[in-house]
Amino acid sequence: EVRSERDQIVELLTRSANYYKAQLKQSPRAVQYLKNRGLTGQIAARYGLGYAPDNYQNLESVVDDYASNALLDTAGLTKLSEQNSRRYDRFRDRVMFPIRNAKGQVIGFGGRVIEKAEPKYLNSPETPVFHKGHEVYGLFEARQAIHKKGYVLITEGYMDVVALAQWGFENAVATLGTAVTPDHVQKLFKQTDRLVFAFDGDGAGQKAAWRALQACLSHVNEVKRADFIFLPTEHDPDSYVRTEGPDGFEALVAKALSLSDYLLRQVGSQFQVQQVEGSSAAVAFLKPLVAQVQPSVFRSALVRSLADLLGMTPVELSSHLGLKRPVGE
Ligand code: UTP
Ligand code: MN
Ligand code: MN
Ligand code: MN
Ligand code: MN
Repeated sequence: EVRSERDQIVELLTRSANYYKAQLKQSPRAVQYLKNRGLTGQIAARYGLGYAPDNYQNLESVVDDYASNALLDTAGLTKLSEQNSRRYDRFRDRVMFPIRNAKGQVIGFGGRVIEKAEPKYLNSPETPVFHKGHEVYGLFEARQAIHKKGYVLITEGYMDVVALAQWGFENAVATLGTAVTPDHVQKLFKQTDRLVFAFDGDGAGQKAAWRALQACLSHVNEVKRADFIFLPTEHDPDSYVRTEGPDGFEALVAKALSLSDYLLRQVGSQFQVQQVEGSSAAVAFLKPLVAQVQPSVFRSALVRSLADLLGMTPVELSSHLGLKRPVGE
């Protein structure tokens, strides 16, 4: 029986995940690290967390012939040394987060250092089974909770997902250190009608939120909505839920800013909309954004609110925005 390369890679990744999981039990240091971050064994098991020991050839134990198994390289698990062409493990002395696809198959890993070191997280490279731009960490694990809660929480990090799950928000996922793409958004809107973004409170998180808004524009309407949680500067969802508790985080979800309010707030703060220069510059800024929104009840209502903010009639603004279907009074 001939198995596809894809299947063989997934099998290597699965065996490696099982190996890392078993190694976690052998490493008091890694277990203590996860405990210090507030995680129980139950949640570690739910996400299949593991540990890659501090050796260069850990994965010798998961294959028959490590030295000649080039598929390990293709799977992103190993690399060849430039000096002596010897194969060695990519992940060493890291807490391992397996990344699963929609079927629950392991398609890649993120690995976090325990002590301070660079890079903090190491991720699988692009492989025949792992494409960072459209994978969402935790989606397989979160699916049931997303349906139950009626929304999905989108965070930046592995730890945010796992910590939120620990505190009862099992409906959390993360983009893998990449900006949210329309591809991600489409994938998530297949699961639920409400996306709630919860990025880090720092400048990078705020930038990520704005890019997420842009990625959502072509998908939102009166049924599908996106909301945004803005955390205090020093927090991310993990640190917030741990200091403020689940009720504190739930309160943030309840008063999350809607996409339209976020857009209005952004326009209002970036432009002096009472002035001719400011309001006309705002129209130029808005044109490519509103152009992405599908004609809908939502778009009409958005244009009306924007017109109000800019001191124009909806008909005027529609015309300036080049909308084929102008919004009436
Ligand atoms: P953060 O720096 O916010 O880390 O990066 P974090 O998730 O809060 O991690 P902890 O709490 O320190 O453990 C957010 C995400 O960006 C990606 C990872 O996916 C990370 O979860 N990232 C970050 C990397 O891929 N590599 C890095 O070196 C850092
Ligand atoms: Mn894919
Ligand atoms: Mn960050
Ligand atoms: Mn964090
Ligand atoms: Mn963070």
